[in-house]
Amino acid sequence: MNVVKVGLLGLGTVGGGTVNVLAKNSEDISRRTGCQIVVSKASVRDLRRSRICETDGIELTANPQDIIDDAEIQIVVELMGGEEPAKTLILAALKQGKHVVTANKALIANHGNELFAEASRNNVVLAYEAAIAGGIPIVKVMREGLTANRIEWLAGIINGTANFILTEMRDKGSAFADVLKQAQDLGYAEADPRYDVEGIDAAHKLCILASLAFGVSLNFEKVYTEGISKITPLDVTYAEELGYRIKHLGVARKNATGIEMRVHPTLIPEKRLIANVDGVMNAVVVKGNAVGPTLYYGTGAGAEATASAVIADVIDICRQLESANILPALGFLDEQLQDLESLSIEDVETAFYLRISVQDTTGVMAAITSALANNSISIEAILQKEVAEQGANTDVILLTDSVIEKSMTQALQDIEALDSTNGSVIRIRVESLQ
Ligand code: NAP
Ligand code: HSE
Repeated sequence: MNVVKVGLLGLGTVGGGTVNVLAKNSEDISRRTGCQIVVSKASVRDLRRSRICETDGIELTANPQDIIDDAEIQIVVELMGGEEPAKTLILAALKQGKHVVTANKALIANHGNELFAEASRNNVVLAYEAAIAGGIPIVKVMREGLTANRIEWLAGIINGTANFILTEMRDKGSAFADVLKQAQDLGYAEADPRYDVEGIDAAHKLCILASLAFGVSLNFEKVYTEGISKITPLDVTYAEELGYRIKHLGVARKNATGIEMRVHPTLIPEKRLIANVDGVMNAVVVKGNAVGPTLYYGTGAGAEATASAVIADVIDICRQLESANILPALGFLDEQLQDLESLSIEDVETAFYLRISVQDTTGVMAAITSALANNSISIEAILQKEVAEQGANTDVILLTDSVIEKSMTQALQDIEALDSTNGSVIRIRVESLQ
């Protein structure tokens, strides 16, 4: 049987998971590919560190260039993370005619245009299934399964760590910092966990999904990014009272004027399937104009779930080694990528949840509702917490109809300027996902 040698750049959570899954499923994988996939070398920073996988038969090196220079290695799998030295190593591998698989969404979102062009010049594959939504084969869905459709919009829970934190806060009332620590211990979080908590990791993934959906070049700077760090247990409770769940959602939509790309905490009606995606699970809804809405669900982070996506890419390459048939990196022919305008968040239309801390004085509700009405914002629902005495502080919770963001920004400035309002108004966008 043909042997295909693979070199791993990185042997941490995902690298170790990849070795383990290749070992336990080797028979099925060989039956599927007709070849034997062998990890011959792996590079790490610390040669003495213990590994989650067996390393017998794998030559460990502290010099990643050894892998690029090994003429027998046909596929380089980059699982070290970060932008450098990963980018330089991948470019070097592509230039040497090696196929590359990566799970590095930061790298693809920020430098994918350049990397894909280099892969194309050298007639090799740069595959990145594991970069989005862990084990869910969403790149394959977008590049192959849904190619008959014009994609209208997609929305997804695409960061396992953030979803795990929100779920534990809601179900167990756990403190934010404790749950983040658990996510790190389980291997879900990024090396810098601010990427998970501040929405940057989800923004990387959304940027790639939007390019796959709409056939545009990668444009990470245009993704509006808000994380979950300001979500309090109070908002989680109020949202539940109104029949909603708070999820960290990525949304990409194409309309007549351009495309919107945004990640932020979002209220979703609790009866939607995606509102019930909990823990480290991810889900992506894709709306095609022929098929309608479709939903993809699975484990969003962790060693073996991510390895499943990494190895699927390796297997695809093994199958392609025999043919010259290479799929376009973003699913559209390179020369057909369009230059569509990316909308500013101020031009995006959504409904809103507002939490306004006020002194409960006569006329306060009238002042708030007229500030909204003056900006043509209608109210869908109101919750007001009772207070023991007139003049005490209380929360007013409002759900609004859909409104252009800039009108909401103006209304909130007007509300925050009222004598009876305490501090800033909390606003969370609402998506009905219909
Ligand atoms: P990790 O556990 O920190 O592993 C990183 C590996 O790369 C380690 O073996 C480390 O060596 C090596 N490494 C890191 N920086 C290096 C450098 N500058 N030079 C040489 N070696 C270096 O990370 P991970 O969680 O497996 O994530 C790897 C990639 O997969 C990242 O791009 C991440 O975003 C992506 N990803 C992760 C998950 C997940 O659930 N963890 C899911 C999807 C995608 P040492 O072991 O010696 O320190
Ligand atoms: N840190 C990422 C997450 C890993 O939690 O979703 C998977 O991409």
